[in-house]
Amino acid sequence: MSTNFAGLRLANPIFLASGTCGYADELADFFDLKSLGGLVTKSITLHPRPGNPTPRIVETDSGMLNAIGLANIGLEAFIREKIPLLASLPTAVFVNVAGRTVEEYLAVIERLAPLEAVDGFELNISCPNVKQGGITFGTDPKLIEEITRQAKKAAGVKPLMVKLTPTVTDISAAARAAIQGGADALSLVNTFTAMVIDIETRKPVLANRTGGLSGPAVKPIAVYLVHKVYTEAARPAGIPLLGMGGIRTASDAVEFLLAGASAVAVGTATFIQPDAAVRIRQGLETYCRAHRISHIADLTGALR
Ligand SMILES: Cc1cc2nc3c(=O)[nH]c(=O)nc-3n(C[C@H](O)[C@H](O)[C@H](O)COP(=O)(O)O)c2cc1C
Repeated sequence: MSTNFAGLRLANPIFLASGTCGYADELADFFDLKSLGGLVTKSITLHPRPGNPTPRIVETDSGMLNAIGLANIGLEAFIREKIPLLASLPTAVFVNVAGRTVEEYLAVIERLAPLEAVDGFELNISCPNVKQGGITFGTDPKLIEEITRQAKKAAGVKPLMVKLTPTVTDISAAARAAIQGGADALSLVNTFTAMVIDIETRKPVLANRTGGLSGPAVKPIAVYLVHKVYTEAARPAGIPLLGMGGIRTASDAVEFLLAGASAVAVGTATFIQPDAAVRIRQGLETYCRAHRISHIADLTGALR
């Protein structure tokens, strides 16, 4: 089950997705974190953030909406309180980085890059605005390329993964921009902007009015987007993809691999079953044995 991802050797291709495993300590009591290939921390910002007002989570028939608003303990508390556990894991640790300005992103990456516990970075570019002009920069290829270039410089030898938002007209344009800027890997997808309305109050359920949809509802769209980015941008450039969006079972994970992902991340499923990722890993092993697949990489993009 071991595989290479963006220059890192992983024990297996299963990650935990950002924001759904906290800083890993929250899940340490439920299963052995060592049994995963990698994990991506909650988004870390330069300063602590309380996040959005509540309610900020609502369930739907086949998924959930969240509008957490990047609540996190901030860079320095993360280093002090969370890095020791992360440092003890053989699992690849990617720190998800967010900020209000490019400078904030760079400050976080520069401070964390020398730490041994940090194996790589995931750039969350689907959040607020850059200083320059109030354009959401996850949707603007020019801004994606620029922030990726600067972040890569700050990350040095450590791999930089850029997380793409699905709420764009052409996700491949965003992917090409990140690759042009020097991304070592791409992760997709982030959540889909959505709304749930309370018909009695006639108000949106979330205090933020809208939130990001994740879970089984988004899976077929996410599989399609992974395949699109793989064929149109990542395969030609030789850049690996971390695929996610509604993965609940081993067969879901296989779909993402066949679509073009080199590794997959489990998000919302962890809220329903804390050890979902471990069960998915075990199921993937069974699938590989049954189909005589000796290298996970042989599944990547093997769609007929
Ligand atoms: C409660 C919650 C919090 C999340 N927080 C973050 C975050 O801080 N940064 C980020 O890049 N993605 C965040 N995500 C998005 C997930 O990492 C993932 O991209 C998305 O949920 C799709 O995968 P899933 O359907 O398996 O959950 C969050 C998702 C959920 C459900």
